[in-house]
Amino acid sequence: MEKERYDLTGSLLEWYDYNKRILPWRENKDPYRIWISEIMLQQTRVEAVKPYFDRFMEALPEVEDLANVDDDRLMKLWEGLGYYNRARNLKAAANKVMEEYGGKIPGDYDALLSLNGIGAYTAGAIGSIAFDLQVPAVDGNVMRVLARIWGDESDILKEKTKREMGKRISAYIPKDRPGDFNQALIELGAIVCVPNGKPLCDQCPWDTICKAYKEDKIDQLPVKTPKKSRKIEYKTVFLLETDDMVALHKRGQKGLLAGLWEFPNLSCRMDMESINEQVKNWGIQADQMEPAGKGKHIFSHIEWHMEGVKIHLEKEQPLEDFQWVTKKSLENQYALPSAFEIFRKLL
Ligand code: ADE
Repeated sequence: MEKERYDLTGSLLEWYDYNKRILPWRENKDPYRIWISEIMLQQTRVEAVKPYFDRFMEALPEVEDLANVDDDRLMKLWEGLGYYNRARNLKAAANKVMEEYGGKIPGDYDALLSLNGIGAYTAGAIGSIAFDLQVPAVDGNVMRVLARIWGDESDILKEKTKREMGKRISAYIPKDRPGDFNQALIELGAIVCVPNGKPLCDQCPWDTICKAYKEDKIDQLPVKTPKKSRKIEYKTVFLLETDDMVALHKRGQKGLLAGLWEFPNLSCRMDMESINEQVKNWGIQADQMEPAGKGKHIFSHIEWHMEGVKIHLEKEQPLEDFQWVTKKSLENQYALPSAFEIFRKLL
């Protein structure tokens, strides 16, 4: 075991020291920065996260700023990253840190786990990177690497597999560099043992250890049972506009995209006749109506297939459930989910 541990841990850390990317959240061990980066990285690639991360840190440099931020501003900072509940959880957790931990992010694994939006992976990442705790941080990318090196055919979409891999890899986490070890595994998954396409096995520090490589099973691992197919929801999206204003609707406080602004829409396909009918029901006078764009947006469990219609009014007219805002304010004030981006461009 000792020799195996040296081979596995030592070769990985040596590889990491030469190959790690310079990233803004690796500049220091500030737990706040590491926490924010980990939450952002759960949804998007490293390159895409960088500008969001820099902007977020400039706007909200301390936990206290996050705890006090206005909800609309927070949504604006998160706009485009998706999964807005993650941003809401960040703020709720920041409040908890202010109230229960005197404004300091706790350096204890269970305390981290008790914060909103922090699960086993994130607690492991923050705990090991910021506080040198010898705990694993196993996400989908790390599971891919581990399934391959161990030739493990367990289904990596199962929570049980994640727990078991976490336990097994824990034996290799070194006392002096737990955060580097976990980040090295993540890095290996991101740049060598890649998810799509052929992994770069000739550059892997574990090429002599890797079971899948030795047994020519790279293509078969990791095992993932197919997910249930997503439900499709058709939508008609209304771009109700004047020359410089547009009508928005605020979504309810529960469910998908809760509390966010959107263009008014109905969950059905509509022909021009039923659109006319709807316009009449709203009691508005349109001076022009035309189809405007089509879009598809994929969430984890549902797909929206959307068709837009642009309805021009000479002047804003009162609408019960909608609010007129300037088109300009969509740029800096109202956060629109990226599902609606293609329609915003048509205003
Ligand atoms: N993905 C998740 N966590 C990461 C980290 N700390 N560095 C780079 N990519 C990551």
